Amino acid sequence: MISKLDNYETVVLSRDKCVIEIIDQTLLPRETKVITLKTREEIYEAIKKLRVRGAPAIGVCAALGVYVCALHSTAEDFYADVASAAGYIRSSRPTAVNLMWAVDRMMAVAEKNKALGRSDFIAVLLEEAERIYTEDIECCRKIGENGLSLLSEGDGILTHCNAGRLATVKYGTATAPMYLGHERGYDFKVYCDETRPLLQGARLTATELMAAGLDVTLLCDNMSGALMRTGRINAVIVGCDRVAANGDTANKIGTSMVAALAARYGIPFYVAAPTSTIDMSTPGGDDIKIEEREPLEVTEMWYESPMAPEGVKVFNPAFDVTDSELITAFITEKGVVYPPFADNFRELFDKE
Ligand code: MRU
Repeated sequence: MISKLDNYETVVLSRDKCVIEIIDQTLLPRETKVITLKTREEIYEAIKKLRVRGAPAIGVCAALGVYVCALHSTAEDFYADVASAAGYIRSSRPTAVNLMWAVDRMMAVAEKNKALGRSDFIAVLLEEAERIYTEDIECCRKIGENGLSLLSEGDGILTHCNAGRLATVKYGTATAPMYLGHERGYDFKVYCDETRPLLQGARLTATELMAAGLDVTLLCDNMSGALMRTGRINAVIVGCDRVAANGDTANKIGTSMVAALAARYGIPFYVAAPTSTIDMSTPGGDDIKIEEREPLEVTEMWYESPMAPEGVKVFNPAFDVTDSELITAFITEKGVVYPPFADNFRELFDKE
């Protein structure tokens, strides 16, 4: 199964450009299965249920989704129908800003071209969705180059959750420097937290890195302090779902604990962040909406029988906020950004 993963795309438009194809990530690593998405309900469900997940992949899926919904719309008020599908897809998850960013980008193009005839209108939507798809590949590749400049041969690198190729179109964000280093013989030792409760580290990161031939070691989330204390970790690299203007960062639940531990042991803590994940309209971490998910993900998912007393109260936020002071730098496609983040982000965007 592991070697087969390379033959599949995380999220892609079908060859005839009529439907979206995704690897159903809820089935990994047991089964590598591609499913197709055509309706707004299927796209919403796939994002909500984490069949496709990871901030950039969700954004790409949503962008392709707006196009696919337009393509299949039979509504008389065509533009209103596309706008309503876009709004519905946009509401599938609340934290990853790439979802809103991608849908808004599609709708800006739609708004500008709404006077066009139906087939020309669909063609411009397709063009924009394909641009978002291609940009993601280029962006991750550049994050890889910029991240690699911070690392040395033989480094031990810890990562949390999955910010890998399964979370993007290709390469991943946090994993891009790992893949690139691997291609160039850096011989990294990668450690991945299993990432309770949905096990993205164990099920996805370990799977994709092993499939690509990297040296991977899996650990439970409560083991990273013990590992850092041994001196085997030279850098932590994680992804992100939304970065606020002051540098506070929402990422998978547990990330803030890893950051606090890294600070304790003097290990650099890097956040790989495509600029599409930096949200200058969100001032700080307290302004980021954190998704809460179902209790059963904590109490019984993955177990043969429930592992907690029936009716117990459960706290299950999908993300946490890492305070900007704990972050050494952001690795973006435009370069590495150090504190003071608020000023340096502004400068980064002014460059455009
Ligand atoms: O709930 P998920 O699996 O979508 O959470 C994903 C993460 O937290 C990733 O680290 C983040 O989206 C960055 S992906 C490049």
